[in-house]
Amino acid sequence: MVLSAQAWEQMWSPYDEVTYAQVLTWVRPYHVVLDIGAGDLRLARRLAQQAKRVYALEMNDTLLPAVATLPDNLQVICADARSYPFPSDVTLAVLLMRHCLHVAVYLEKLRAIGCRYLVTNARWGFGVECIDLFAVRKPFTAVNMGWYACRCGATGFVPGPPEKLTPGVETAVHEVHHCPDCDSGILSHHWYGDGMPANW
Ligand SMILES: C[S@@+](CC[C@H](N)C(=O)[O-])C[C@H]1O[C@@H](n2cnc3c(N)ncnc32)[C@H](O)[C@@H]1O
Repeated sequence: MVLSAQAWEQMWSPYDEVTYAQVLTWVRPYHVVLDIGAGDLRLARRLAQQAKRVYALEMNDTLLPAVATLPDNLQVICADARSYPFPSDVTLAVLLMRHCLHVAVYLEKLRAIGCRYLVTNARWGFGVECIDLFAVRKPFTAVNMGWYACRCGATGFVPGPPEKLTPGVETAVHEVHHCPDCDSGILSHHWYGDGMPANW
């Protein structure tokens, strides 16, 4: 059976303890955390032990346990993260969803509420990174050669002459804005409906 990209995105599958431990290294006691696609809350419960407050957002209600068993600082919201208005006090979001098609949507919604950090494996599809959502970015056209990660969530490599491929070029990631995917309107694996927002 071949699953569609949408079916992959909505499939629940927990991550491993190494991944969760990595996520938790970025969480401080003062953080208000939004866990997007929280599954059966196994990470959200750990987040609640470290953070001031945690919102666990999950659309599949069959995964969610009885509310009575939850810690006081963990609030479960059963809703679609694409359309549900994010709480305005969130300071750090977690998106563990390697097959996410809506990274651009979540990035913009988080910026709109002033959330500073996103801890995720969705942008590169492996590992876990902590993105500073308000980091200074250079235009895509300023990258002569090397890896880039765009404001819209797209990632890629700008090719160049092989003789210029040094270990430094191979490992550095340029945080950019206005990449080719932004300009195409429909992003390659990150979707933003009819194109990027007017204030892009
Ligand atoms: C790969 S699982 C990861 C679950 C959890 N983060 C963990 O590590 O155990 C992705 C989860 O995101 C949920 N999900 C996908 N799209 C969603 C959406 N638009 N709104 C809310 N939850 C969503 C799925 O139902 C699934 O439970």
